[in-house]
Amino acid sequence: MTISDYLVTDDLTVLLGFIGVSVFLLQNLYKPQPLVHPILLGRQSDAGRVRHSGESAVYRNYGTGLMGRFPVRPDKDVNVVTDFVKPEFDAPRTLWSTKITNAQLKARVSAFGSGIATLVPEGSTVLILLNDCIEFVITDLALSEQSIASITLSSPKLLARVLEMHPPDAIITDNTFLPHVSQAARDARNNHKLIVVDFLPPRFSETARVMYSWQEVESLGKVPQTPKNAPQPGSAYTVSFFETPSGGMRCVQLSHENFTSGVTAIKALFPAAINLSTLDTIVSSHSLSTPYGRAIAYAALFEGASFATLPSTSVYRDGDAPALDVADILSVTKFPIPSPTVLFLKPEHVQSLTSSVTDRAKKSSFIFPLAWRHKFAGLTEGFLTKDSLWDRTVFGSAREDVLGKMADTVKAIVISGGLLPSDVLVPARLALSIPLINTYTHGSATGPLFATHAFDLQMLPSSSPAAEPAHAGAPSVNVEAKLVGVNDSVVEKGADPIGEILVRGPSVGNMLAADGEAGEKNAWVHTGEMARVMTNGAFKVLGSI
Ligand SMILES: *[C@@H]1O[C@H](CO)[C@@H](O)[C@H](O)[C@H]1NC(C)=O
Ligand SMILES: *[C@@H]1O[C@H](CO)[C@@H](O)[C@H](O)[C@H]1NC(C)=O
Ligand SMILES: *[C@@H]1O[C@H](CO)[C@@H](O)[C@H](O)[C@H]1NC(C)=O
Repeated sequence: MTISDYLVTDDLTVLLGFIGVSVFLLQNLYKPQPLVHPILLGRQSDAGRVRHSGESAVYRNYGTGLMGRFPVRPDKDVNVVTDFVKPEFDAPRTLWSTKITNAQLKARVSAFGSGIATLVPEGSTVLILLNDCIEFVITDLALSEQSIASITLSSPKLLARVLEMHPPDAIITDNTFLPHVSQAARDARNNHKLIVVDFLPPRFSETARVMYSWQEVESLGKVPQTPKNAPQPGSAYTVSFFETPSGGMRCVQLSHENFTSGVTAIKALFPAAINLSTLDTIVSSHSLSTPYGRAIAYAALFEGASFATLPSTSVYRDGDAPALDVADILSVTKFPIPSPTVLFLKPEHVQSLTSSVTDRAKKSSFIFPLAWRHKFAGLTEGFLTKDSLWDRTVFGSAREDVLGKMADTVKAIVISGGLLPSDVLVPARLALSIPLINTYTHGSATGPLFATHAFDLQMLPSSSPAAEPAHAGAPSVNVEAKLVGVNDSVVEKGADPIGEILVRGPSVGNMLAADGEAGEKNAWVHTGEMARVMTNGAFKVLGSI
């Protein structure tokens, strides 16, 4: 037999062969590409070469490198927080319920600032007891412009202690919280001025305490005065008190530079494909009374974006806190802002959103299991889209039922302010199909301390038998982190270091001792929280000590 006898083919074989090759080629050529290069994800941060006993190495963002300098400004012209309101933007945007241009915002800031400067002497401190609103932003910028120190509290429980230990010269509050403030101030026997954002109720205007309405202060400042001392990037202008999980009180002092660094880190969360711009509407679930919440608002101001916060951010209220769920997110539609594009949410919001969308999709479509399997297969290859066949037939309408118009407009969700269970991440990615950026934040810092890459879709195997939260990525662009209290013998055997997270960097403020004494500048800050650092340089935050 000759070779050709073995190679006898008929037309059918040729055809089958042709189809086989075509399918193979199609699958390989048109296989969706991962959204981010795998090498980048394999090594997320730079670890220092030395490791002290009982500690992990020092980790930095891969982009910063071990020798690189930390970025501290989003733009070379932004030195102090009032620079976030850029004069070159002249289109109006909406902040909560108010449509306002940068020029109008600047005018209101300088009127209120000049007014307040006539009421309280230089070197005073002013306590801001306001829920999130445009007046909070104006107050905050006005005080910083006048170099008057402001104080914020992350919880109303801290009020009595702060009034006693650090009596302010003035308090700015609104009608709803006024009775509580008056009572607390009487208890602490403070002598301060009260400035009330809404109208003055008659029963209070008769009391001996000195009270001013917001309008009075603004009209006192009709003739703007240039501040006596122009604020410097390095000057501390605000102090934030926050609670530890065990109920202790901690206090951090923050400078303009600490906030410009925080905004730089927030901007760095968004790769160019989903960068922030004037077209965005940012919605946040983090109170302006926290450094991180305020930095998010500043980032929105800086980008010329519209901005609002969720009802659950209110610190000063009667009754229970609103639940962190879909209803909380949907409440922003009551503001006249354009449909939100970027959401800064808490883990509970994401869980609620995911289960609502998944339940809706399950109920409305019998091909749900098939759709789920196909999207899951894409995810394992590092690929995610909102526009696949499965989204058009199954998930799209479920998302629209739950989120309304937002289902179309939201392009990214940043998750901070708690631990995200790792088994939520995959369902959330499939249900929402937009970048979910998981971060770790702390009461002492204006920016995220750790953050995942927006397009990191890896499903990392758990390195411990117990369920651990989802990883929070690598140190942020301007943060150094290390773990202390690690077990040397375990680490020498090659296991992941586990210990308390210590951080430092320009977005971290200066921790003050209970008596208000400043600590050493740029010292390592103990977060009181544990983490595991994985071999790829990503951190898993495990909860408080
Ligand atoms: C916060 O800002 C101050 C003043 O610019 C700076 O000295 C300090 O180093 C910053 N914080 C940290 C932890 O770097
Ligand atoms: C942001 O995105 C827009 C549109 O994709 C692009 O034109 C612009 O250059 C980006 N800006 C930055 C700073 O990457
Ligand atoms: C370190 O880990 C080893 C092995 O798990 C354990 O036997 C040892 O007690 C630990 N050492 C400390 C100081 O916790």
